[in-house]
Parts: sequence; structure tokens; C-alpha cells
Amino acid sequence: MADEKPKKKASGPSLADLKGDLPSEVVHDGVPFPWMVSERAVKALKDYDVRDDDIWVTTYPKAGTHWAVEIVNLVLADGHEENIDRTKQAKPMEFDFTQPGAKPPDHLPPDMRIPTYEQVKDWPSPRVFMTHLPEHMMPKQICEGKGKIVFVLRNPKDLAVSMWHFLLPNKFNPKHEQWNTFLEQYCTDEMVCGSYFTYNLNFWNKHRLDENFLFLKYEDMKRDLRTAVVQVADFLGRSLSDEAVDRVVDKATLDSMKQRFNTVESKSGKIGAPSIIRKGIVGDWKTQFTVAQNEAFNKLYREKMEGSGLHMDFE
Ligand code: A3P
Repeated sequence: MADEKPKKKASGPSLADLKGDLPSEVVHDGVPFPWMVSERAVKALKDYDVRDDDIWVTTYPKAGTHWAVEIVNLVLADGHEENIDRTKQAKPMEFDFTQPGAKPPDHLPPDMRIPTYEQVKDWPSPRVFMTHLPEHMMPKQICEGKGKIVFVLRNPKDLAVSMWHFLLPNKFNPKHEQWNTFLEQYCTDEMVCGSYFTYNLNFWNKHRLDENFLFLKYEDMKRDLRTAVVQVADFLGRSLSDEAVDRVVDKATLDSMKQRFNTVESKSGKIGAPSIIRKGIVGDWKTQFTVAQNEAFNKLYREKMEGSGLHMDFE
């Protein structure tokens, strides 16, 4: 059985299958991205016309983006999950699967045949977006105070493990095949979206006091989901009854989301990517980091975070 080909996922072709002749990674404004982030998207987003009530969930990938998007959607739906319009759930704003050079889009699900930033143009307000764009590439209007940004931070060790599991099957970079080469790259700005530290500290240093930014931490959300939900509701100017908050919390748990997301994924024919919801815990890094890797990473963490006033929980 050694030469048996790996079974193709029932969900369709992988991202690697779709990229055609494009390189697996591309660099825009000095930052590496996976191939489906196009130059035209990056340019369009810099001058994007942001609405006052747009909600941009902004994260370094694997920080809990989909969790925060779901909480926002549930808050807007007063906790009635069945009222969320799943056709208005965009992929990251910078994704553009149909750029010149990619495989023809005829076998893509409809939501991937048009660049995300184009798809959402006429959506009704309030629009809910996700993005992994670094601070210097965000729409200028956001940095000037327009729109509402829910920014999620997660401790860099759990995030590294989550990202490694996610990137491995997508074959963006040979360094991702082994945990140790992945971790080496993860500590540098050669990582997709730039390094964890550069990405998060740029937002934190520049925007932590801005009224249009809400900073959440994954570990706080795990510890006390209810408080996080109330924070999001307050930030969005929605006053929810206690019962509505209960409904949001109930539907935003790991188990509830796991059930729902698998259904949504198969219904929309989402391709290739391993399920967004994996273990969903704090402290998973202990199963992956060696003692030496942990010590080296702690040293780097102290150097990078010193003076930032930002503290992350690792367990
Ligand atoms: P793990 O891979 O550690 O399990 P993103 O949405 O940014 O891609 O982040 C995905 C990570 O968030 C995954 O982490 C996933 O399991 C976790 N996650 C998603 N929904 C969650 C929830 N309701 N509760 C806790 N973690 C959640």
C-alpha cells in the first residue's frame, strides 16, 4: 500500500491545485503572502471605501478569526444563529482566487470566482469582514478612524502550532513541512503576513487607544466567553438582553461552532483547507515545542515584547 495516493478530500480541490502557474508565495509591500493574495487586491484595499459601520475582524492568522467573526455575527443577530445570512460571509478581504495565472475558476464555488473586496461591494450594512493585512497595508480610512476593528490576539506558541497544522497541507512553502523549519521561519518576517511580533505590535502600538479598535485576547475569550461577548456588543453599540447574551455564548462555544462550521463548509463546498476548528484550547504548544525550542522562544518573546505593555497568557 506504500504507493497508494493520498485520498482527495471530499470537499474538492486543494488550494495548491488551484494556483495554476503562480508561485506559492508572493511578496507585497515587503510582506510574504500565500498566492491568493493578489497585487490588485492589495492596491484596491489601501484606498478602500470603508463604511462607518463596517466591522473588520483583523488578526494574525490562526488567532481565532472565525471565532470572533461568529461572535460578531451572533451579536448582530441578537443571538439567533438561524438569522445569520451565511451567503454574506466573506473570505479574507485580500483573497483573490481568480487573478491572472491561477487555474480557471469554473470549478470554484461562486464566492471564490470574484475577488472578495469586489463581492462585498453592494452588501447591506453592517458588513462583517475578516482580514490578515498588516497595519501598513490596511485601508487608509481605517487608520484614520473609520469602521470598527475587532482585533484578536493569541499567545504566539499556541498560534504557531495552530498555524503549522493549517499551513502544512496547503503547501505554500517547503519550510512548513517540518515543525522545526516552520518554527525557525515563524520567528522571522519571512513568515506569511510577516512575523507574529511585527504584525501584532504594529497594530497594538499604533491603535490600542483608538476608539474604532477593540483588542480581544483568545485566552480571555476561552476563560470568560460571556465577558468577551458583552465587550463586543458594547463596542458595536448593541445592547443585548441577558437572554440574548446567553444565546450568543451558547452558539459561540467550540462544540457549537464545530458542529455548525462543518455543515456550512460542506454546504458551501469550501475547498481544501483543513477544518478551521481544530482543538481550540490554550496550552497546546506543550505537545509540540521541545524544551530547547521553548527556551529559545521565551527569550525571543521577552526581547520583542519588552516595553510593549502587552502580556499574553500561555496556559
Ligand atoms: P487550533 O488550531 O489551536 O485548534 P482562525 O479562525 O484565525 O483560523 O483560528 C483558528 C483557531 O481558532 C483554531 O485553533 C480553532 O480551533 C480555534 N477556534 C475556532 N473557533 C473556536 C471556538 N469557538 N473556541 C475556541 N477556539 C476556537
